[in-house]
Parts: sequence; C-alpha cells; structure tokens
Amino acid sequence: MEISILYIFFSFCLFSIMGWILEVSYRSLCARRFVNPGFLKGPYLILYGTGSLMLMGCILLFNFYDVNFVVKIFTYFIAITGLELISGLIGTGLFNIRLWDYSDQFLHYKGHVCLKFSVYWVLLAFGFEYFMLLPYQNFFTSIPDGFKILSTAMLSSIIAIDFIGAVLKNIVSPKSLEEKEIIEFEFINMAGSLLENSALRALSQFDHHRGKTRLEHVREVAYLSFQWGRRLSLDGNAIVRGALLHDLFYYDWLHEGPRFHGFRHHNIALKNAHKVTCLSKKEEDIIKKHMWPLTVVPPFYMESLIVSVIDTFCSARDYIDFKGHKGTRKPIAVVDNSGLREERV
Ligand SMILES: [Fe+2]
Ligand SMILES: [Fe+2]
Repeated sequence: MEISILYIFFSFCLFSIMGWILEVSYRSLCARRFVNPGFLKGPYLILYGTGSLMLMGCILLFNFYDVNFVVKIFTYFIAITGLELISGLIGTGLFNIRLWDYSDQFLHYKGHVCLKFSVYWVLLAFGFEYFMLLPYQNFFTSIPDGFKILSTAMLSSIIAIDFIGAVLKNIVSPKSLEEKEIIEFEFINMAGSLLENSALRALSQFDHHRGKTRLEHVREVAYLSFQWGRRLSLDGNAIVRGALLHDLFYYDWLHEGPRFHGFRHHNIALKNAHKVTCLSKKEEDIIKKHMWPLTVVPPFYMESLIVSVIDTFCSARDYIDFKGHKGTRKPIAVVDNSGLREERV
C-alpha cells in the first residue's frame, strides 16, 4: 500500500488517540481511579502515534513480514525502548516533567526505561504487526478521502496547538517556587554587573515594543533565554550577556534611526556593546545573529539560536498579549551615555 502524507498524519492522530485509551485504561485500573496520562490536555498520547509510525516504517518500508524473528525482536526492542528513553529524557530535561517512573522496577535506567515494560512494548509491537496493521490498512482504504482529510486536518491542528501551548507553558515558567528562586539567583549573579551599567540602564528611556521599554525587553529576553539554556546545559553566562546587549541602540526605532532598522540594528548594538564590555566570540554571535533569518547567515552557536528564537517569541507576545502588560515607564533618571552618542544614527 502506498504511504502518503495523509496516511502518515491520519495514522499518527488515530494511534495517538488509541494509545491514550490504552494508557488511561491501564493506569486507571492500576490506581483504581481515573488517571489522565501525558502532558497534553486532549485525549491523545503522541508517543503512541510516533511509536506506531516507527513500527509501520519498519514493517512496510523494510518488509518486516519476511525478516528473521530474532532480528525483529531486537529491532522492536531497540526502537521502542529508544523512543521511550528519548521521550523521558526530553520530558525531564526540557519540560521538567516526569511522565512515568520505572525507578521501582527491576533493571531500569534512571526510571525512564525498564526491562519489564520494554518486553511489554515488544509484545505490543508484535500484536500491532500481526493483528492490527492489516485490518487498519483495510479500514483506511475503505473510508472516504474527504472524511480522512477533514478529520486529519482538525485533529492534527488540535494536537499541534495543544502541544505548542504545553511547550510554552512548561518551558517559559519554572515548575516550583524553589526552582524559580534558584534560577533568579543564578540569573542575577550573571546579569547583575551589566544591569547596573549606565549604558544598559539608559535603555529604560526608550519605548521598544507596545507597553515595554527596551531595558524591560532585553531583560526579559535574557531571563527566558537563560532558562532555556539552563535546561539544555548551554553557556548561561554568554546567553545572559549576549541577550542583555542584543538591542543596545539609542533611538526610537519606530520614528527615527537608520533606514531598514531590522536589517541593521544588530551591528549598531554590537558596536555599542564593544564599548561597554569585552565580548567573547559567542556573545558577539548572539548579538549579531539575533535577527536571524533577516541576517541571512545562521547562528553559529546554539546559544545564539536560543536568543534569536526567544527574542522573536517575546516580540510577538508583546504585540499579541498587549492587555497583560503594564504601560511604558517614562525615564526616571538621566543616565550619562554621552560616550555612545555617535551611535544614535
Ligand atoms: Fe533586535
Ligand atoms: Fe530584541
């Protein structure tokens, strides 16, 4: 049977829902109460959708029906356990969520995978191959294309929105008060000296986005980028310093400044930043590439990419979520930034 984009998306949605039903039944029976697994709001588990696609890939693309039984067991074991391990590591490392915990099981790795459940998954994979795949393919070909397209479009959009919302919620905000305090402490330690610098404080005199001064903007970008970087074990110091200096220019970009501000202000900020402090190669790259892809040359470091993405996210949020922001503060002190005057082009 031909594997089309529609087949892939339809299968992903359907098996994500079926996986949720299976997992809810198992967990609720074990706990003797209703348990809703996963970190998404809706009734689907994308891990099952992804796992099913992986199995279909093995079976249909590599013609697994003819493959040696032992090779099959080994492949299913590695593929599904690997998927479970990567998902577990992403959950705890990136989202700070532990979706399952096998710590009390025999032969486990950091609670993410264990022998018993890996054996279960292999049995399930064989069940999928021998009892489910063929009826599913017949079912898929029997339903009208219009229904498949409509239901796939609806379900994938819902899952995508749910997923993006969960990612933003879990990455942008720290999970516990204690963790939040630790992150803020580390951030202030790294950002403190720059935040006290008059050249940076002068940014409070300029509106940047709706309802926000430039100082508030760079601080926000630095803080959120630092959180991302921390979870990905990146260079937090470079992220904080680069992000704080990424918009170091002194004009109202909406009404004055150079033409094509979006394409030029990263160079102005970089020149100004060099006058404020010594910059590492990484910090230079963060400032220079923060407008990527407008700057064409892609970020050289992961830290630069993070700041660029967070800068775009914060800017978009400032305009979309205007109601949630306080009004722009007017300057409360005259800051001496005469040394940077020539950069106000
Ligand atoms: Fe910028
Ligand atoms: Fe910015």
